[in-house]
Amino acid sequence: MTETILIVDDEPAILNTLSGVLSDEGYQVLTAGGGGAALDLLQRESPAVVLLDIWMPDLDGLETLQRIKRIRPQQTVVVMSGHGSIETAVRATKLGAYDYIEKPLSSDKVLLVLAHAITEQQLADENRHLRAAIDERFEILGTSPAIQRLRDQIAVAGPSLSRVLISGENGTGKELAARAIHQQSPRRNRPFIEINCAAIPESLIESELFGYEKGAFTGAVEQKKGRLELANGGTLFLDEIGDMSLPTQAKMLRVLEEREFQRVGGPKTHRMDARIIAASNKSLSDEIQRGRFREDLFYRLNVIPLTVPSLRERKEDIPVLARHFLERFGREQGTATKRLAEDAAAAMISYGWPGNVRELKNYIERLVIMVPGDVITSSSMLPLGSPAAIGPASTSLDGPVRPLKQARAQFEHDHILRALETHRWNISRTAEALGVERSHLHRKIKELGIHGKPTEEQLPLVD
Ligand SMILES: Nc1ncnc2c1ncn2[C@@H]1O[C@H](COP(=O)(O)OP(=O)(O)OP(=O)(O)O)[C@@H](O)[C@H]1O
Ligand SMILES: [Mg+2]
Repeated sequence: MTETILIVDDEPAILNTLSGVLSDEGYQVLTAGGGGAALDLLQRESPAVVLLDIWMPDLDGLETLQRIKRIRPQQTVVVMSGHGSIETAVRATKLGAYDYIEKPLSSDKVLLVLAHAITEQQLADENRHLRAAIDERFEILGTSPAIQRLRDQIAVAGPSLSRVLISGENGTGKELAARAIHQQSPRRNRPFIEINCAAIPESLIESELFGYEKGAFTGAVEQKKGRLELANGGTLFLDEIGDMSLPTQAKMLRVLEEREFQRVGGPKTHRMDARIIAASNKSLSDEIQRGRFREDLFYRLNVIPLTVPSLRERKEDIPVLARHFLERFGREQGTATKRLAEDAAAAMISYGWPGNVRELKNYIERLVIMVPGDVITSSSMLPLGSPAAIGPASTSLDGPVRPLKQARAQFEHDHILRALETHRWNISRTAEALGVERSHLHRKIKELGIHGKPTEEQLPLVD
């Protein structure tokens, strides 16, 4: 991209020479013979950098700088002066100048300063972009009263720094809610650290949480900080807390009570300064009844209880979310945003979405990839709710050739679902039969959007 530079100087010779040098370097050049003319030009043009002379008869450079900053605070201005003194440079910088160049000008120096200023601007732009993209990803969408209530509760809970316990079915947005709480707290610029108690093998969870000292166990060749320590000053998100074992619960309780902890294998006591947000998709009161969750820990964690409603309880959000994901995945795939016809939206609204927003999101991603055309109608959409939603007969060797990634995902989905059903959704046994770690299986179940229709005796995702 050609960057535009505005040169402001009352000496025609300088304007001429500098213009020549900058155009040779590929810049687009604008010139103004004084401060007033520069301000006029800035009404119409937005140069990347203004090169501003300090000593000018009509309007002095420092005054011009102030006025530029008033109309355009983000404008990069580099000042130049022959009668330069340190004080002028300092004043210019205080008024917001990016840099200061002394006359007689060296073209190398001018080009270097311009290149730096422009790189810095590009980084700042990129940063703003990335931040906007992150904010978008963390936005809790939906217009239903239920989701509005949740957003209101988050707005209150966030700044309070109290512990929050989030409950809700699979895929409803518990983690999203936890991140939103962190974002709306005074700790937003500090780390948000997550630990998924269901995905980490029992034998590792304590060293993951509390860290370990060198020599604490075989393989502990170096000391390592745990996530509780990494979250210091920020937030620790204890995900799937219902899956934490009783011995670890006892340790966690002590940490919450004493606000201190020790790394595994070490006597040194560390102060804990992490805000705790926990989440569970199991009913913790049921777990307490069954003797699998400590009541005292529950009360410690449950200072502010939040429930993320299932999609079934806020059906009006289904088309809103569907359209959002159509737009987002269309953008990611570089294709036009597909339109959702009324009959397709109606079919989605009447479906039950046992896997909630995650299932909807995965489903829409498949639609974007697999449904040709610009409009999604009830007859062109993929079947809802069955493994076949990935596409009928996509694992069969007949029919159109599909991308390998899709075929593999379909095969994995079906194979894992069958294994889970065979082992009545017992994760440990299924993982063993498949020859993978429990954590890996958990991840696959999420990634592939696998969910079953558990009957009474088939408790999903319970070991
Ligand atoms: N209201 C919402 N608006 C936009 N995106 C959402 C919303 N709710 C959930 N999502 C998206 O759906 C996906 C699942 O959300 P998330 O991981 O927060 O759910 P969860 O309740 O933690 O799921 P699980 O119980 O499986 O851990 C994420 O990609 C998240 O960004
Ligand atoms: Mg989660």
